[in-house]
Amino acid sequence: MIFECTPETWENAGFEDTNEADTIQKLSEIFIEELDGHELLSNKSHWRQFPTITNKNWHKDNIVLLGDAKATAHYSIGSGTKLAMECAIALSDSIVKFGTNIEKAFTNYEQLRRNRVEMIQHAAGVSLEWFENMDRHMQHDFMQFAFGVMTRAKKVTFENLALRDKSFTEKVLTEFNCSIGNFKVTVPAAFTAFSLRGMQLKNRIVMSPMGQYSAENGLVSDWHLVHYGARATGGVGLVLTEMTAVSQSGRITLGCPGIYTEEQTLAWKKITDYIHRNTKSKIGIQLGHSGRKGSVNVPSVGNNIPLEENGWNLISASPIAFNKQMAVPKEMDIDDMNTVVAEFANAAINADAAGFDMIELQAHHGFLLASFISPLTNARTDEFGGSIENRLKFPIRVFTAMREIFNLYKPMSVRISASDWAKNGISEADVLAISETFKRAGADIINVSTGNTVENQEPQIGRMWQTPFSDLVRNSVHIPTITAGFIQDIDQINTILLNGRADLVALGKPLLLDPNFVRHAQAYELFKTDDIPNQYVQGIAPFYQMQQADRREKENMKRALKPETHKKVMNNL
Ligand SMILES: Cc1cc2nc3c(=O)[nH]c(=O)nc-3n(C[C@H](O)[C@H](O)[C@H](O)COP(=O)(O)OP(=O)(O)OC[C@H]3O[C@@H](n4cnc5c(N)ncnc54)[C@H](O)[C@@H]3O)c2cc1C
Ligand SMILES: Cc1cc2nc3c(=O)[nH]c(=O)nc-3n(C[C@H](O)[C@H](O)[C@H](O)COP(=O)(O)O)c2cc1C
Repeated sequence: MIFECTPETWENAGFEDTNEADTIQKLSEIFIEELDGHELLSNKSHWRQFPTITNKNWHKDNIVLLGDAKATAHYSIGSGTKLAMECAIALSDSIVKFGTNIEKAFTNYEQLRRNRVEMIQHAAGVSLEWFENMDRHMQHDFMQFAFGVMTRAKKVTFENLALRDKSFTEKVLTEFNCSIGNFKVTVPAAFTAFSLRGMQLKNRIVMSPMGQYSAENGLVSDWHLVHYGARATGGVGLVLTEMTAVSQSGRITLGCPGIYTEEQTLAWKKITDYIHRNTKSKIGIQLGHSGRKGSVNVPSVGNNIPLEENGWNLISASPIAFNKQMAVPKEMDIDDMNTVVAEFANAAINADAAGFDMIELQAHHGFLLASFISPLTNARTDEFGGSIENRLKFPIRVFTAMREIFNLYKPMSVRISASDWAKNGISEADVLAISETFKRAGADIINVSTGNTVENQEPQIGRMWQTPFSDLVRNSVHIPTITAGFIQDIDQINTILLNGRADLVALGKPLLLDPNFVRHAQAYELFKTDDIPNQYVQGIAPFYQMQQADRREKENMKRALKPETHKKVMNNL
């Protein structure tokens, strides 16, 4: 038996001062019911925190590393011994192949094994994090907790668990549906409804904010109408617009839209009207100010390249330039702050008038409000710098001013960066404080993103890579969250939702070339929806048949394969 507990439990139970015999005695008492009269045997049992070991080089001269000395994998995925044995076999093969040329043999061994070892170590790391944050998961309902254990390392998903044991996944889905009041029908998690204040979403798939850099003088055009309109007819529950500036100098590029004039407000209204008239989707606007990252060319010219003509002066929390090419921003004084608060409040009024169902405040990715929050961009010594409480003061002032003036029936979200992916950046404690404070200020949901605060960031990108941050906020602060980042298919979306790692799942790049992502997913899941525009209804039957045929083929392939190939295909899927 392996006993895991939090440092607090360990300390409170006085385990720090107990020897092996006393520990065994105490655990035997705690787990008396589970032991059912059996004795707890010990074998060099001691308390430890799992050490994750990695090595840049696996050999030097005539010394070579194997097993745990080379790389450990947290025991919760049960792979350490297997890794050690497979590496030993590869080393043996290499020595047989290269004979006395030890250097070549060792190099070959490392080439054969490093990739595989690092993949397993990554999965083990994700699993370790799940176990070490058990408190977050223990609050979940029973089946959700069990599903979380099964899918913790991200490799196993709802769909491939269903192939192994459908009765289990059915229970998970039924429990999820019951928890949200769906007692009669079992709907795939992604297609369940979700409400915030007076806004009701028909499903949980969100179009993530994505700059189009196609506006002129801050005005959205026919491009935006077709772009947003197509994703709404394509069935996303909520469209979130690209970052929309609250003032002319709050734009990032000359192609960014704004909502600081009446003309801009009316141009946006054309889009919201179209969506409300023709679809059941809702549309929220992301309001922001570029801060020190403004006055640059559009990304098609290059990232963060300052404008040579028609640029403007930058403002930020502190006079620190984003990169060597960009200008040093002015440190904002109280007058600047008052101006920016008024601009955000004005934009909130315009957003309501333009017919938006929701506002998302941009307080992430290193833009103006985020520059106050991160210690890497805020070096102030006044009441707006230093502690996280101080760093939050200005962003919260902006949020509060908007919340006071914005339609009470409409929700407000805030998008935060939950990590700077850089040394001395935002900490986990900061993230909790940020989320708590916005929750208290009236945020209905937090869109949990990461990074883009500083140029020298080192993000760890992979499948569903930002979801653990959403998990942290949702299950520690108890506020609904949106997650995004490399989420590729309906199975991953369902798995995230059923795990309770987020309430809404946002897709960015997957929607760029496929406005009908949601329609494909609905057909794949055989989910009958009532929001396909009348003009398209004749397409439903053949489309559903096609998606179902694809799904059957995929499942048959998985079932028919031999165990080893089956495993490879499952991993790749
Ligand atoms: C609690 C727990 C559960 C696990 N569960 C699983 C599982 O279910 N499945 C799985 O595959 N893996 C599991 N593992 C991982 C697995 O045990 C290890 O990956 C594996 O034992 C590594 O083998 P190794 O030979 O590299 O190291 P070890 O098995 O640690 O062997 C190293 C040996 O070297 C000895 N030693 C150390 N220093 C010296 C010295 N100076 N002189 C002489 N001898 C020395 C040690 O006493 C030890 O006997 C688990 C690990 C732990 C801790
Ligand atoms: C072209 C493009 C523009 C983006 N613009 C914004 C933006 O204006 N505001 C924002 O919050 N995020 C923006 N993002 C980030 C996305 O909202 C999303 O978080 C990110 O792309 C990760 O999701 P994905 O892997 O599904 O694309 C942008 C992403 C892309 C690809």
